[in-house]
Amino acid sequence: MNFENSARLYAQATEVLANGVSSGLRRRVSTPPLYFKRASGPYFYDVDGNELLDYTLGWGPLIAGNAHPAIHKAVVAELQKFTSLGAQHEGEIALARRIIAAVPGVEQVIFSNSGSEAVQAALRVARAATGRGKFIKFEGHYHGWFNNVLVSYHPTPEQLGRAAPTCGGQPAAEYQDTLVLPWNDKAALERAFSEHKGQIAAVITEPILANSGSCMPEPGFLEAVIALCKTHGAISIFDEVITGFRIALGGAREYFHLRPDMSVYAKAMAGGFSISAVGGSRAVFDALRDGRTIHAGTYNGNPVNIAAALATLELLSVPGSYERMHRHGQAIREELERCARAKGLALVTSGTGTIFSVHFGLAAAPKRYADILKADAALYDNFRALMLQEGLLLLPEGRWYVGLTHGEPELGKTRDAVRRCFDKLKA
Ligand SMILES: Cc1ncc(COP(=O)(O)O)c(C=O)c1O
Repeated sequence: MNFENSARLYAQATEVLANGVSSGLRRRVSTPPLYFKRASGPYFYDVDGNELLDYTLGWGPLIAGNAHPAIHKAVVAELQKFTSLGAQHEGEIALARRIIAAVPGVEQVIFSNSGSEAVQAALRVARAATGRGKFIKFEGHYHGWFNNVLVSYHPTPEQLGRAAPTCGGQPAAEYQDTLVLPWNDKAALERAFSEHKGQIAAVITEPILANSGSCMPEPGFLEAVIALCKTHGAISIFDEVITGFRIALGGAREYFHLRPDMSVYAKAMAGGFSISAVGGSRAVFDALRDGRTIHAGTYNGNPVNIAAALATLELLSVPGSYERMHRHGQAIREELERCARAKGLALVTSGTGTIFSVHFGLAAAPKRYADILKADAALYDNFRALMLQEGLLLLPEGRWYVGLTHGEPELGKTRDAVRRCFDKLKA
């Protein structure tokens, strides 16, 4: 497979795009970054004429694949009515009702445009509701690119155990109220609550650590987050930007039978369109209603994105959708594990069927960020490069997204490619 035209376009892009790409992490997907002409279902078509079977799903949103006819139709119909409004329309009520019906314990929602924004809205509401300033996040968790949360996202081994900025341009004053703890460690959470008595507004967590190895929560840990927040008058926030509408229609609330105070949604919710939401009980939004704080945004509730979300949730509500997606992912995980065993290589996969990660060099599923530092990331990169030559597009760091768009033919192709790549892989 050759990527000459992509290399040429990337060279042109670096002349005019300061970052070369439009989101920093994209540079790591392939060398050169690939340029695409079109995409359909689970297939991306690049400028060199290659057809690539996609398991990146646009970093999560494309749960129904590209150009799904039902989403396309809903969006085009809406575009015939509006472009953007900056005002009210019935679609907002319809989508809020749909989310409330799908997600257990959510009674009201607010809309934003990206996951990063919605996380900030949730933290602001939590701070206004509690009158407190500090919040707790966990090592390895990603909650968007803003300074107060881009802390200890992928710390080096030396940075473990303290709040470390992730990049330049993050003044310490902007994350001085961010407390960072190891995940799946209930005792550390209890200690933090007693050391900062009456000061913690919120605890924010990915319910599955999708951004660092798809680590699963230890039994009782998420329950402890919710219970300790309740005991100490803080707000529990599940950041479901990845897990929402992906691991189940009701996200982690449904999957784990849990009811945090607030949850944040984006990505899979709108099948590739730019919308996010925060959901919670009526009471948790009192601070917005009574004017203690505000939430705003020119594009909030944009009708086109709302139409895309309504169409996506309709597709995801078809009975059997999640069972089928999870089965597909589990079958890939089993193939990867089987091939590794046959070759005598240590490999584990972690997560669910619809979002999972692959770790070479680990004997047991990782429980927290520090564990994935021990994995053989270079070997996975070699494997991923072989998979690309086989026509499969995968994300770095071992993460795979599976969606409605992946069917039996894709599973067959993927299994065959996995087998061939293990044959070629030099450990
Ligand atoms: C868990 C989580 N929260 C927040 C975000 C930020 O969302 P966005 O990129 O839409 O701003 C992401 C993005 O990947 C995410 O994975």
